[in-house]
Amino acid sequence: MLFTAIPDIASKARRTITIAIAAALGAGVVVAVQQTASAAEATLGAAAAQSGRYFGAAIAAGRLGDSTYVNILNREFNSVTAENEMKWDATEPQRGNFNYNNANRIVNHAIGQGKSIRGHALLWHQQMPGWAQGLSGSDLRNAAINHVTQVATYFRGKIHSWDVVNEAFADGGGGGRRDSSLQRTGNDWIEAAFRAARAADPGAKLCYNDYNTDGINAKSTGIYNMVRDFKARGVPIDCVGFQSHLTNSAPSDYQANLQRFADLGVDVQITELDISGSNQANAYAAVTRACLNVARCNGITVWGIRDSDSWRTGQNPLLFDASGNKKAAYTSVLNTLNSVTPNPSPTPTPTPTPTPTVTPTPGPGGPCRVAYTLNAWNTGLTSSITITNTGSSAINGWSLVFGLPSGQTITSGWNATYSPSSGQVTARNVSYNGSIPAGGSVDIGFQANHTGNTSAPSSFTLNGNTCSRA
Ligand code: XIL
Repeated sequence: MLFTAIPDIASKARRTITIAIAAALGAGVVVAVQQTASAAEATLGAAAAQSGRYFGAAIAAGRLGDSTYVNILNREFNSVTAENEMKWDATEPQRGNFNYNNANRIVNHAIGQGKSIRGHALLWHQQMPGWAQGLSGSDLRNAAINHVTQVATYFRGKIHSWDVVNEAFADGGGGGRRDSSLQRTGNDWIEAAFRAARAADPGAKLCYNDYNTDGINAKSTGIYNMVRDFKARGVPIDCVGFQSHLTNSAPSDYQANLQRFADLGVDVQITELDISGSNQANAYAAVTRACLNVARCNGITVWGIRDSDSWRTGQNPLLFDASGNKKAAYTSVLNTLNSVTPNPSPTPTPTPTPTPTVTPTPGPGGPCRVAYTLNAWNTGLTSSITITNTGSSAINGWSLVFGLPSGQTITSGWNATYSPSSGQVTARNVSYNGSIPAGGSVDIGFQANHTGNTSAPSSFTLNGNTCSRA
C-alpha cells in the first residue's frame, strides 16, 4: 500500500493490469496479457496526489449531518478548510475563553477520514469577535498575538498550512496595507503574528492569504514586496495563498504571478477557488493547469462543495450542483489533474549507483539531522519531521527510512510518500521538495493510528546515511 502526499492514497500512477482472456480459440485455453495503463484517477484528491498535491474544500461543521454533502466530501477531497469555524470570532468569543467545538467537529471528521487540514485564519480584520473590535493599540496587539499563540498551539501538529494573516492589503492602485485596527497597532503586526505562529506550531507552513491578487497587479506586488522583505530578514513565512474568487476567467498572467512568488522561495496555494460565469469549466481548467505548472504550488482548495453551499449565493461557482451532481467544471478539473505525467510509483528518487565499498562522506556535523515532533491523542497521532541537510552539497532526490513503533499505522501524510504504512517505513520526496540545498531543510509529516504505543521512531537514515537527532 502506497501512501501519497496528503491522503486518499493508494493511487498507483501506473497499474499493471492482467487481463485473462478465456479464448474462444479452444476450450480451456487462457491467455494472460500484461498491459500497462496510464493512470486516470477517479477523484479530485487522488488525481492531485499523483503529483504530490492536495485537492481540498472549505467545509462547514453545520453541514456534516447532510449525507449527500458528506459523501462528496469523503470521496473527492483530501484536504479540508473550516469555512468559518477557526476564525477569531468562532474560536475566542470572549477574551481568553476559547471554544473549539465546531472547529473540532471539522478536525475530527478530517482525521477520521484521513484528510489533511488547512487552517483559516488566525488574524483577519473581518469576523473579529465584538470584544476585539472594541480594542486598539497595544491592548489589541497583545490580544491578537495571544490569539495566534493559543489557537496555533491548540491545533499544533494537525494543520498542514495556516493562513496566519488574511487580507491585510488594500485594493486599488497603491499596493499598500489596508487600514484596520490591526494595522494601526503598527506596521510590524504581520511579522509579529508570523513569529508567534512559528513558535506555537513549528511544523505548519505559515501563509499570507489574500484576494484580487490573482494576476500581477499593484496589490499582489505589494504582497510580493512584503514576502521578499520577510525572506530577507528571516521573518518566518512559508507560503502565499491566492483566494481566487474569480468571474469567468483567471487573469492571463495567473501562472506567472504564482511563479514569481515561488521564485522568492515560498510555496503557493490556491486557497478559496470559486469561479462564476459561462466560461467556468475552461477557467477552472486554466487555474488547475497553472498550479500543476508551478512546482511550488502545493494544492488547490475550492470554497465549498455544492453551488448551494457557496457564499456567493446565486452565482453557482462550484464543482457540484445543488443536488450533488458533478458539473462540467468538475470534469475539466479532474481531466486536467489526470493529464500530468503522474509521479510514478515508487517516486522517481534517482537510484544511487551502488558503491558498497565507499563509505558516504558526511559533511561537517554529519549528512543529515532530523527533528521530530509528535502529537498523540487516544487512538491517533500526528508527526512532523524536519529533515536538514547538514552536509556540504545539495541532496537531489531523497528517501528517509525510519522504524515506526509497533502498533502505529500511517493513514495519511504530506510532503512525501510513505510506504509501507507500518514497520520499516520509507518516506520519499515528492515533486516539489526533492532537492535540499546544503544547510537547507524540508518539512514532512504524517498522521497515524496507534494502539497505545506513542513513542517516536527509533532511527532515521537519509539515502542510506544515519541522521543525527535534533
Ligand atoms: C466567508 C464564508 O464563506 C462565509 O460563510 C462567511 O459568512 C464570510 O466569510 N475570504 C475569506 C473567507 O478569506 O474567510 C471568506 O469566507 C470569503 C472571502
